[in-house]
Amino acid sequence: MSLSLPGPTPAAVGTAKIEWVRRRSPVLDGFVRERLGDGALDGVTIAVVVHLEAKTAFLATVLADAGADVVVAGSNPRTTRQDVVEALKERGMTVVAAADGDYESWHQEMLAAADYGPTYIVDDGAELTLRMARHRPELFARLKGVSEETTTGTARLQAIAETGKLPFPAMTANNARCKHLFDNVYGTGQTGIQAMLRLTNRQIAGTHLVVVGYGFVGRGTARYARALGAHTYVIETDPVRALEAHMDGHTVGSPADVLPTAEMVFTATGGVRAIGEEDLALLRHDVVLANVGHSDLEIDVEALRRAATSIVHPREAVETFRLGDRDVHLLSSGALVNIAGGSGHPVEIMDLSFAVQAVGTHYLATHELRPGVHVIPEELDNAIAVAKLRSLGISLTQTRANQKEDVKEMMDGGHHDE
Ligand SMILES: NC(=O)c1ccc[n+]([C@@H]2O[C@H](COP(=O)([O-])OP(=O)(O)OC[C@H]3O[C@@H](n4cnc5c(N)ncnc54)[C@H](O)[C@@H]3O)[C@@H](O)[C@H]2O)c1
Repeated sequence: MSLSLPGPTPAAVGTAKIEWVRRRSPVLDGFVRERLGDGALDGVTIAVVVHLEAKTAFLATVLADAGADVVVAGSNPRTTRQDVVEALKERGMTVVAAADGDYESWHQEMLAAADYGPTYIVDDGAELTLRMARHRPELFARLKGVSEETTTGTARLQAIAETGKLPFPAMTANNARCKHLFDNVYGTGQTGIQAMLRLTNRQIAGTHLVVVGYGFVGRGTARYARALGAHTYVIETDPVRALEAHMDGHTVGSPADVLPTAEMVFTATGGVRAIGEEDLALLRHDVVLANVGHSDLEIDVEALRRAATSIVHPREAVETFRLGDRDVHLLSSGALVNIAGGSGHPVEIMDLSFAVQAVGTHYLATHELRPGVHVIPEELDNAIAVAKLRSLGISLTQTRANQKEDVKEMMDGGHHDE
């Protein structure tokens, strides 16, 4: 008779994952902890609403260790990890999220987080902020500030601010250089491709790969795809960015030019229906569609469902839609494939992004800012980069005067290069 020993509990698995994150998060675990150690967040209620996996859990832990009452929820029903939820609960944190929910249960979780009446929100896609504005206006009016993770959330907050309906200051973590130059480009670039390859088990070298949207996320995706041997094509509506894609060596074209031969397509526009109903007729047989933008609607999944004569699930998180004599494969139901179908950004990248989020929240708690959308000051952005460089064993010695002084010297000395 063989005895089977009980495996680790989900909470223990989640705790180990969070510790794995801590090991490679020197900025959050050092510089940020020190900065937040002044008691400014003591007893303050902070709702953390970001994709609920181990890296987010570590951010929540750092905020809780700084004295905040943290309420944690997920920013997408498909990206919450139950072992991490259990680990946070075991640690005594309030969590209003569960894995494997649907949009309705997720909406209820958001409202439950709102009902804690947070003073600050660390948001992603402005998901909680928008719901509070609509469904809990009395609590919304009491909010003192929001720190927002991503491009889409920033655009949403700016849109509210322009109508004069944002009663508090919002920090956009996304617009700090330590966020979008690394997270959007390298984080999504690496992990979007990685998730697509894992889910499909396909080869990338030699494939015709299309990226829709050549912003920070699109350029990272195209760069990593090309590094692995793909022939890269870009669809972009902004002429300057289209020109940039061309000069970076990608082939730029309209949907009609590049979709009919595409074998893999990534959407990265920050909008909706970047692959819309009218594009479905352009897709070739056996194409793989993946999204890395914030919204699950970047690929018009409803249009795909309407057009399909059958839908099968050949692999985990892969749905195959039969359109006439063609098969179109959709990954992770159109949710951000790198998080819903993978492990999300590398730990080292989120060490930077979440350092910006934590420092931004602390900044909101320690400064009187006018309502509207703000970015952390340049000195703080630089201080985060210095902390990261130091953790990598790199120190910058200022051997030259700064550029502004150089310019002044040139002007004073009359050296004008015409
Ligand atoms: N998956 C992730 O982990 C992750 C990480 C960071 C950001 N994001 C999200 O990715 C999206 C893109 O972020 P970004 O920082 O690259 O934004 P961005 O604004 O820099 O770039 C988006 C680009 O898409 C182009 N575009 C818009 N609509 C288009 C269309 N229909 N067809 C072709 N091009 C179109 C725009 O002109 C722009 O150049 C956002 O939703 C952002 O929130 C996801």
